[in-house]
Amino acid sequence: MTTSLGVISSGRGENLRYILLAERSGYLPSQVKLVLTDQPDAGALKIAREFDVPSLYLDPKGLAREDYDLQLAGHLDAAGVELVVLTGYMRILSPAFVRHYKDRILNIHPALLPSFRGMDAFQQALDHGVKWTGTTIHIVDEEVDHGPIVWQVPVPVRDDDTHESLKARIQRAEHRAYPKAIKKFLEERHKLVGRKLIFEKK
Ligand code: GAR
Repeated sequence: MTTSLGVISSGRGENLRYILLAERSGYLPSQVKLVLTDQPDAGALKIAREFDVPSLYLDPKGLAREDYDLQLAGHLDAAGVELVVLTGYMRILSPAFVRHYKDRILNIHPALLPSFRGMDAFQQALDHGVKWTGTTIHIVDEEVDHGPIVWQVPVPVRDDDTHESLKARIQRAEHRAYPKAIKKFLEERHKLVGRKLIFEKK
């Protein structure tokens, strides 16, 4: 069975590209039905066009968060979206939106949560001097970078890393990790015990 995805992005959209490639190769049992963005020049729009996926820029200017999110949800529902996938979406979702898609929104964050939540996780990791950081795919709840964890991949930090070199290494890991986490979430039976997501053994 194919699951309908809706992707929301504010940026480059490289994670979207890797999700679409994973769908087209048959690895992912899903189909991106709609790409939404809050940035008129988001790379995600170009990638959606490249892959012939419907996409839409929705201007948030002058709208309260709840009203903007109602628009997002209207478009996602109309497209029949079952799972919302955030790829570099930099706005905080309203509680009403999160409740509407309860346990059906995934996000990727460029750190091993709960470390380095919020903005510029790369710089936070460098400033803290950690030897390992990584990427986390998690279910979105009403707190930022907080919900139950689906999958994590560690990435080493080198002594001579710059912001750019560390970011590039983490993002390479993300491009493999996000399709893998979506596949796991869609194909493996799981249950939530508190905030712990438990995948049943096959
Ligand atoms: C990714 O590194 C993702 O982890 C990060 O934005 C980038 C999006 O890249 N997300 C966050 O920082 C959210 N807290 P992309 O636009 O190329 O997919």
